[in-house]
Amino acid sequence: MCGIVGYVGKENALPRVLDGLNFLEYRGYDSAGVAYFTNGKIKITKEVGRISVLEKKLPKDIYTNMAIGHTRWATHGEASKINSHPHRQGKFTVVHNGIIENYAELKKELKKAKVKFISETDTEVIPALLNYYYQQEPNILKCIQKLKNKVTGSYALGIICDDDQDHLYATRCGSPLIIAKAAKGNFIASDVPAILKYTNKYYLLDEYEIAQISMNKITIYNADLKEITKEELTFAGQAESILLNGYEHYMLKEIHEEDQVFLDTFNYYVTDNKFKKTMPHLKNYRQIHIVACGSAYYVGLIGKFLIERLAQIPVTVEVASEYRYQENFYNKQTLVIIISQSGETADSLAALRKAKEDGIDTLAIVNVIGSSIAREATYTLYIKAGPEIAVATTKAFLAQTTLMALLAIHISNRLDLLKHFNGLEQKIKYLLQQDYRQYAKAIYQEENIFYIGRQMDYALCLEGALKLKETSYINGVAYQAGELKHGTISLIKENTPVIGIATEAKVMAKTISNIKETKARKAQVILITNQDVPDKCYDKLIMIPKVHEIVSPILTVIPLQLIGYEVAKLRGCDIDKPKNLAKSVTVE
Ligand code: AGP
Repeated sequence: MCGIVGYVGKENALPRVLDGLNFLEYRGYDSAGVAYFTNGKIKITKEVGRISVLEKKLPKDIYTNMAIGHTRWATHGEASKINSHPHRQGKFTVVHNGIIENYAELKKELKKAKVKFISETDTEVIPALLNYYYQQEPNILKCIQKLKNKVTGSYALGIICDDDQDHLYATRCGSPLIIAKAAKGNFIASDVPAILKYTNKYYLLDEYEIAQISMNKITIYNADLKEITKEELTFAGQAESILLNGYEHYMLKEIHEEDQVFLDTFNYYVTDNKFKKTMPHLKNYRQIHIVACGSAYYVGLIGKFLIERLAQIPVTVEVASEYRYQENFYNKQTLVIIISQSGETADSLAALRKAKEDGIDTLAIVNVIGSSIAREATYTLYIKAGPEIAVATTKAFLAQTTLMALLAIHISNRLDLLKHFNGLEQKIKYLLQQDYRQYAKAIYQEENIFYIGRQMDYALCLEGALKLKETSYINGVAYQAGELKHGTISLIKENTPVIGIATEAKVMAKTISNIKETKARKAQVILITNQDVPDKCYDKLIMIPKVHEIVSPILTVIPLQLIGYEVAKLRGCDIDKPKNLAKSVTVE
């Protein structure tokens, strides 16, 4: 969601800020804007739509040493020029990611002090407050410090002030922000990809810390305005890892990285069929809650089946946005597992904080290194997926599923099962090489598609259906195969597309019967299975290599992802940046 980039340095700031915003496009946005100084005066340009629209509106001959930029994903007020960032009040111009929860109250208060608001946004109260404080005491750092006790909600802020055109300021609470050091200048950004073209050295800003950044100096203060020293981090991957490398879309590129992502994740935790020290001691927990959103939640469902089957420990899986508002029956032996690719999903972060407040140990399964969820959990296990740019998650899902399977083995101490991971990358490669267009062609003009399966296959149905919904805008709906006859089967008629998944030996016969029930009503069935089945129950067949159930979901998800991709392509959708969606959902 909303992306922030800022630069102050010896080189031209605007192209650097625009480059950064382009790399943050994957976060999702519907308008964009920049602010910069020229001849000592502030200029702000904002446009609805893509960054390319904004670029066209900017003068070509501008050279400026400082600029801030923003991509906005509308929350408070429609996507319009006025509501786009940067927002300005008095001498302060601000870009913001997050939500100011008490903005209405603050607006009311500031209006009494004669402040006029022009937008419908929550953000505008921030420059207004800063300007108000500045009139009382013209000390920018102290003005920013005062936000901590005044503002509730989440924010990452890039701030510039007309009276200090040598410094860019930044602070955060709840929303991510990094400060990066390049050869000829310094950056602020919502995420590492924004700065990789220029540098791979960066600092993570912690809650309420304030950065004061000039051309050649980065000074970071804690919430008491004491100068602090931060650890300099280096992004280990290549900048190229976030480029398309000849693929038409990031989603396709990322799916095709899955064999390597699997190997990297597996090898990070296991060597010679034994766990390395990277796995924490988890054997004393007797009850597990898995909490996550979207696809990560579906990984949690797979994890439930694997952990319960292997370790005989009860596992409940909850959607993070519900978790903090319901009764959660913890005890001292409860472990709360949070799964999140971005590590910044506001609902998941809130659930993690709730569990911590209740004194419960938490384990985070995260992709983005140093993200809030990764930093705040009791234990953190990273998947090794590398940067994921496409809004629809694919390689991170596969890596999370790999790690869930390893976790189930670790908790149950069933080290004998590790052998089933050996050589799996070859099977992943085989599935990646198949042509899924024929299946996509059969369904891409439909508006409703049914996915049916049982147990872990049902979790995969949910994921397949979500891939279709988010990239193709087709209503893919998943059902537990056995539930169909309790109502939904009334919707099945001639040619209704049904994707049946039947890979689980335990429920194979039952699932096949349910699929036959749809075929008997003349549905058009695509069957995904790993066993020979009666040919009367499908129209098209996708065979998955037969492997142990512990690793089977890692393979089964691949055709679902590629069908989602091919359908979106046939429908001409904006595959990497679907409408209304954001990669990292940082609002609750
Ligand atoms: C998946 O394709 C979605 N874009 C979405 O459901 C995502 O999995 C969810 O928002 C959770 O994100 P996270 O893993 O970064 O927490």
